Amino acid sequence: MNRVKIHDKYFDIYITKEAIEERIKVLGAGLSARFRDKKVVAIGVLNGAFIFMADLIRHCNFDLDVRFIKAKSYEGMHSTGKVEIDQPGHLDLTDEHVILVEDIIDTGLTMQYVVQKILASNPSSLTVITLLQKPAALKHKVQIDEVGFSIPPAFVVGYGLDYDDLGRNLPGIYQLSSNQNPEQ
Ligand code: IMP
Repeated sequence: MNRVKIHDKYFDIYITKEAIEERIKVLGAGLSARFRDKKVVAIGVLNGAFIFMADLIRHCNFDLDVRFIKAKSYEGMHSTGKVEIDQPGHLDLTDEHVILVEDIIDTGLTMQYVVQKILASNPSSLTVITLLQKPAALKHKVQIDEVGFSIPPAFVVGYGLDYDDLGRNLPGIYQLSSNQNPEQ
């Protein structure tokens, strides 16, 4: 599928599922070299990161405890400018090596907020990995250690990312089409 319609908008294929798979293999190999013989807690930021997390951890060759935190800062195609965190239970990460797994860093607001929360629970190290980053949209200073793909600041869906709750199940990543004409 090269073009999809979600709600009222058309999206074109931007990163294929094969290209994502290849990149994740490389990211997993890098983490495996770095954390060999260590025990690590991977924390995925829901909802968007669930597919990236599922694929990435299967390329992580070290002891891994998998957890999730829920954050929301987007409505439709725009950041609301505030982050809502929903984290059941106490986050005790004292002396743990933590990998924070995010789907996309746009303004950096969500990641800045989540990183502060994680650092407050005294991990022994923190590594931030995001599948996508829009460097031109970054407004908040935030730690980013590994990026799958740097992309322009256009809206994308698929592979876990949504447009108003739809599109997460698309196997590739699709970008908002510059041509919204249904006749294309
Ligand atoms: P930030 O807080 O502005 O960095 O935005 C991060 C969050 O906004 C991500 O976790 C996504 O949920 C959402 N987001 C940002 N850009 C996009 C996009 O292009 N498509 C879908 N969701 C996005």
